[in-house]
Order: sequence, then structure tokens, then C-alpha cells
Amino acid sequence: MNIAVDGPSGSGKSTVSKALAINLNLAYLDTGAMYRAVTAWLLGDSTSLVSNWQNMLTKKVNMKINPNAAAFTILIDEQDVTEEIRSQRVTDTVSLVAAEADVRDWMVQLQREIMSTSKGIVMEGRDIGTVVMPDAEVKIFVTADLTKRAERRAKEMAQQSDFTQQSLSSRDEKDSNRIISPLLKAADAIDLDTTFLSIEESIEAALTIVKRKF
Ligand code: DC
Repeated sequence: MNIAVDGPSGSGKSTVSKALAINLNLAYLDTGAMYRAVTAWLLGDSTSLVSNWQNMLTKKVNMKINPNAAAFTILIDEQDVTEEIRSQRVTDTVSLVAAEADVRDWMVQLQREIMSTSKGIVMEGRDIGTVVMPDAEVKIFVTADLTKRAERRAKEMAQQSDFTQQSLSSRDEKDSNRIISPLLKAADAIDLDTTFLSIEESIEAALTIVKRKF
């Protein structure tokens, strides 16, 4: 069984996806982490991209992923970047990198390779139900109000909520309006609004969606 989970940042998509993978004994892939890892590689030690960063894409880096919800790790050229990809400089730049066609082709190919070598997977992102796994048996579109999402993200990052809200809404705007594979709900996806749900309630609701399908 393959499960596609899409939605904007801070919607609770990662929490729900990891819990589904653990509960149902499926592999887990955070595709946002892959776009973040490419961004971290392109940035190097800098806080902004070099002007000709697209040229760097001709050299494909070696990306290794452990697609396991309890021990998800991502390595770039043998270096573990699992923590680094959550930094503000990567967060600020990732939408630009994720809008690039060459990057998306490369990532989607890797995502499908990981899917085909697993016995079943929960994959989370923005275009999983629409592009990466259009045949997934279950598709969930997770949402939550912007204020709530900013509150959650700020808590995670120990930041001011208003700063987080600005950063989230600017990223939402870029991810939803880009030309290639924007954040989009698949026609056959089921909505899960977590605005008024606790973590436990969100997980329970996602499990119910999966169980109802079978
Ligand atoms: O889920 P996240 O916030 O870690 O994702 C990081 C960025 O990657 C986000 O700005 C959108 C982009 N992304 C994407 O374009 N397609 C995906 N399947 C997953 C993430």
C-alpha cells in the first residue's frame, strides 16, 4: 500500500505521515527533506545562492536516504545533513530551488526509485498525489489555518510566531503558484484539517481515513 500525504508547511503532515508509517509498518519518505538537502548542497557555507547556481545542477550529488520514520536520515556526498537542512538559510532558499525543473525531475526520479524498492510507503510533500504517486491507494491532503501553522512552527523552532507566519505565507505563495508541480490537492485526495485537532486526534483521523479505504 502506498499513501500520499500532501499539504503546506506546519499543517501536521510530517507528524501524521510518520505515525502512519510506523503504525502500518510502511517505509517513510519526507520529500521536502530532499529539496532541502539539494538546497543545502547548493548553498555550501553561504547564506545565498551563487548567481549561476543552475549550472551546478549538471553535477548530480550523491544523495542517500534511510526511508524509515523512526530513523529518517539524509546524506549528501556521504555527509549527514539531516539537521542542517532545517536551518533558516535553507528554509529561506528552498522554494526557489524546488521550483527548478531539473531539480524536480531529479528528485521525482529518486522518489519513484525509493517507492519501487519498498513494500509500501508513506510519502509526504506537495506533489505526491498529483505527480509522484498518482496511483497511490490513499491520498490525504493535510491543511490547517495559517495562524495555527505559524504557532506550531514557531514552537518547534523557538522563534517569534509573526516572523514564522510571514516566512510560511511567503513559502506557501511560492510553492502554490510555481509553474511546475505546484502544491495541489489531487482530485481523489481526502481533506484532513488539523486546525482544531491535537497530535493524537490528527493521527487517529489519518488512520481512520486509511482504514475506511480498505
Ligand atoms: O515540507 P518542507 O517544508 O520541508 O518542504 C521544503 C520545501 O520543498 C517547500 O518549500 C516546498 C518544497 N517541496 C516541493 O516543492 N515538493 C515536494 N514534494 C516537497 C517539498
